[in-house]
Amino acid sequence: MASGLREMLAVARTVRRDLGTGRAVAVLAHKWWRKLRRQKPPNTLEANLEVWETHDWSEAGDEWTPSPEWKQAVLYEFLYEYMPRQGALLEIGPGGGRWTEHLAPLARALTLVDLTPACIGLCRARFADHKHIEYHVNDGRSLPFVPDASIDGIWSFDTFVHIAPPDIHSYVKEFARILKPHGVAVIHHARAGAYSRSWRSDMTAEHMQEFCRDFRLQVALQQDSLAGGTIPLYQMATQTKPDVVTVIRKA
Ligand SMILES: C[S@@+](CC[C@H](N)C(=O)[O-])C[C@H]1O[C@@H](n2cnc3c(N)ncnc32)[C@H](O)[C@@H]1O
Repeated sequence: MASGLREMLAVARTVRRDLGTGRAVAVLAHKWWRKLRRQKPPNTLEANLEVWETHDWSEAGDEWTPSPEWKQAVLYEFLYEYMPRQGALLEIGPGGGRWTEHLAPLARALTLVDLTPACIGLCRARFADHKHIEYHVNDGRSLPFVPDASIDGIWSFDTFVHIAPPDIHSYVKEFARILKPHGVAVIHHARAGAYSRSWRSDMTAEHMQEFCRDFRLQVALQQDSLAGGTIPLYQMATQTKPDVVTVIRKA
């Protein structure tokens, strides 16, 4: 009980430091009210901010890595396969830096963007020796600090699965603006529509195809498993294949 209270106070202090007293009170009140009622909120930006600002980041995201084989497959089938070498890379939603660690050595310049101040704070501390990384807290749907046609590769894993379709649409518009010609984006997102377990949004693979058409981007690939279908993208799923990775290219 005492350790539970200590943990709550530690979370409250971090949230107050990052968001200021007024916003912190609102975020924490919502968090504890939801806990009492055992509700999962819809995937709004406010709910994402609350969930990730108060998450225990002590394992830096590896609490979601189900096995070394799974992580190797994600790295070799997506990150090493598609992220250009020595280019300008952008990661959206780095969390504790689970994938940043592997992107940083590939990049000439790396921009990290996260909705949650706590995550940007963690990455700043973890990657303090990497002088080619810049950091931004954003509004969860736009990238105004990234210049037009300046990015070779965009990476986002385990982030868009929690973002609602209208906010993803807003990001895809930004991809069309910031990618250089022949630039690539690798985006892991929900595909099953109404699947709410593990807090997936109601995004689908077809929505992503429509969004790309809206902004003249090409869908090069949509892949919903790893290692030729032998490893699921999301291992804890009771429903098969709730997620997909879309590889997007700019002509
Ligand atoms: C489940 S964590 C995954 C972190 C990291 N990508 C990983 O795989 O370990 C989700 C991350 O997405 C960020 N996030 C959620 N919604 C976002 C949004 N709309 N824009 C940018 N970042 C967002 C959260 O702050 C958090 O860092």
